[in-house]
Amino acid sequence: MEENEQSARGLHFVGKKDELIEAKRSFRSIEDRDILIIYHQGVFYAMDSYCYHAGGMLNNGDIEVIYLPFVHKQEINGKLCIICPKHKYKLTLAKGECLYKGNNPKEKPPVPRWYSKGVKQRTHTVTENNGEIYVKLSDNPNWIESDYYQGEKGKIERAKA
Ligand code: FES
Repeated sequence: MEENEQSARGLHFVGKKDELIEAKRSFRSIEDRDILIIYHQGVFYAMDSYCYHAGGMLNNGDIEVIYLPFVHKQEINGKLCIICPKHKYKLTLAKGECLYKGNNPKEKPPVPRWYSKGVKQRTHTVTENNGEIYVKLSDNPNWIESDYYQGEKGKIERAKA
């Protein structure tokens, strides 16, 4: 793909595939936005690098699968999450949903299970072309809470923490 074509499509070269696989976690600044690129179990993900909750750095977060409430008594709805090192919030790698543990009062006795708060962390699209990896920034026009820590106020707040 020609360089002009890439930029016309909003694709930003972020590195060679082999290097990003080896690094597993890579930090890049794209158009003034700080992005974390994650390679996990054969798949690349990209998301805002500061946690929406209080600006925690996600790059050292562990990754685990969390199962949302069962469907027909089978826990099949597993989602890969990065766990923010700061206060342990769980964010799905694919969509940036924040998952939390709660009880359904209709269940007797209530058993704590995982639920979604919705999308809180902005995620971006990763593509590969001839061993090169590109990130396209999310073009969702709606405010997503992690946007705060990419702006001026959020950056100042993060620096103070
Ligand atoms: Fe990430 Fe609080 S800053 S959980």
